[in-house]
Amino acid sequence: MNPLKYAWITVNRQCNLRCKWCYAKSADFKTSSDMPLSLAKELIDLASQLNIQNISVTGGEPTCHKDIAQIIQYIRQKNLTPILITNGVLFSDKSFLDSLVSQGLSSVNLSIKGCSEEDYMKNTGVKAYASTLEAIRHISKSSVRLLVSIVLNSDNIGRYLNAIKDAVENGAEEFHFSFEHDFSMLDGNPKPYDIRSIHKLIKGFQESYPELSVITNGRFNLHQSLPLCLWDESFIQTLKKNGQITTSCQLLERSGLVFNTDGSLIPCNLMHQVPIGKFGQDFSDKNSFLSFWNSQKVSNVYRKLCTYPGKKCHTCNENIHCGGGCLSNWFQFSYNELIY
Ligand SMILES: C[S@@+](CC[C@H](N)C(=O)[O-])C[C@H]1O[C@@H](n2cnc3c(N)ncnc32)[C@H](O)[C@@H]1O
Repeated sequence: MNPLKYAWITVNRQCNLRCKWCYAKSADFKTSSDMPLSLAKELIDLASQLNIQNISVTGGEPTCHKDIAQIIQYIRQKNLTPILITNGVLFSDKSFLDSLVSQGLSSVNLSIKGCSEEDYMKNTGVKAYASTLEAIRHISKSSVRLLVSIVLNSDNIGRYLNAIKDAVENGAEEFHFSFEHDFSMLDGNPKPYDIRSIHKLIKGFQESYPELSVITNGRFNLHQSLPLCLWDESFIQTLKKNGQITTSCQLLERSGLVFNTDGSLIPCNLMHQVPIGKFGQDFSDKNSFLSFWNSQKVSNVYRKLCTYPGKKCHTCNENIHCGGGCLSNWFQFSYNELIY
């Protein structure tokens, strides 16, 4: 089994945006589900006992949590590295950023939700594109490491470079891209899906690559979550050679722990509907966690989640790095329908 390398703590579900594609919509943005500080500390203690160095704090929008400063401070106190996953909007207020930096904040992953003010408003219901760029300016001038991310989909693939240009003009130097995934099936309410959008996304990313490389100086990573065989092989080789692609994920590697606001362990941030176990019930410290984690029950869950989507995957040389992609790909269509 792979060693555990990553932990995500979902500290809340409330958010100052309403992104139309958000995987956590069905968690209802309730302030009542904010994680108590005491539970956040217990989960940080557990991650520390398990020698997990990087603790990503996510949400909802974690900067809206009333105890966010104490959570960052506690991670630092344990000699761990806090990474804040945020839309960044509240960092347009430099004094708020400074207050978290003084508690030990050293790394921010900021995702931009639109490619212009109008686009941002359309996607999130809030006029905050300019505030996001202001936040990027503040963070870039601070001691904090900034990674700017964008979730790509077939709608924004033709214009996402506008947002990257704006981010660069405001000081951003490192970028991360991932693909939108639709987990509405887990809410019992699957959205209709146009399979052609996947091919459009791949084509669009490949076409944008030369310009993206110039704008970012090549400093980006694509978290690729589709079957690798959908791509042009030489393009994937180029990305690999340049260290610009991640092809697996913590779920396929079984290398990460993701906690929901109530202390439940979930397989992935995008699957809050599927708790595997819970802090305080199934485990509460390193020893009880390890016997839970190594149990047959948990192994069976991971085996089921990580099943290859197509027969061809079993004999493919890339299967360890690809795993057939994100399992959400197969909620609305089959591998054979996608790979023709
Ligand atoms: C849900 S947000 C929570 C943290 C914070 N509010 C933020 O915006 O980064 C975490 C990340 O998941 C991304 N995300 C939301 N819904 C998604 C989806 N359906 N597929 C892929 N990524 C998604 C967001 O854009 C953001 O980058």
